[in-house]
Amino acid sequence: MRKINDYYSQRAKKEKYPARSVYKLSEIQEKFKILGKGDSVLDLGCFPGSWSLYAAEVVGPKGIVVGVDLQQAEQIPRPGGAPIHWLCADIMEPEMIVQVRRIRPAFRVLVSDLAPRTTGNRWADAQQSLALVRRTLEVAEVLLLNRGNYVCKVFQGEDFPEFVEGLKERFAMVKVQKPKSSRVESREVFVVAMGFIGVAPEAASSRGL
Ligand SMILES: C[S@@+](CC[C@H](N)C(=O)[O-])C[C@H]1O[C@@H](n2cnc3c(N)ncnc32)[C@H](O)[C@@H]1O
Repeated sequence: MRKINDYYSQRAKKEKYPARSVYKLSEIQEKFKILGKGDSVLDLGCFPGSWSLYAAEVVGPKGIVVGVDLQQAEQIPRPGGAPIHWLCADIMEPEMIVQVRRIRPAFRVLVSDLAPRTTGNRWADAQQSLALVRRTLEVAEVLLLNRGNYVCKVFQGEDFPEFVEGLKERFAMVKVQKPKSSRVESREVFVVAMGFIGVAPEAASSRGL
């Protein structure tokens, strides 16, 4: 176990990513190809910035990445990658959507590695995580383009199956993944949903969503 974790931490250091979590997204990308060249990507809970850096490399110079976190990220994008806009904001606040829209009105891909501060109380932690996850879906409803893709980290609690069922009504394909680089003892899993059945963001905006 420890050996595997050491492997990913050391690899992140060597490949100059600020967090080992980058390999969770890269594994998902290798399997599902959720990111394509030229895509626009919204990364919720982006600090310290590994997912955004990786996404920027995959989508390339014609793409764009907007990373949002309570903490200000400051990573410099790699040469040949997409530009990255780091936004310091609380995703629970309506103002966050306004700030993101000033940079980009809609996105092809929304990814979220959001994690609440854990309290040690499993039930409370799962509830808090679910509140963040539900919010990412609200954000998707207004900022994700029709047929867009969505990846979200979830700490499994009793409401988890209901959440996944709800997603199946909004996306053409939904899968639950536990990447190899995710610690075995962690209750985190990643929901990968592709083919958003959405209202065009402009329409959502005019409906006041
Ligand atoms: C596991 S870290 C993300 C790591 C990141 N994916 C990477 O690869 O560098 C989870 C992040 O979620 C952020 N977060 C938690 N609640 C948030 C909120 N309400 N609004 C914005 N960010 C939040 C935390 O500040 C934390 O940086």
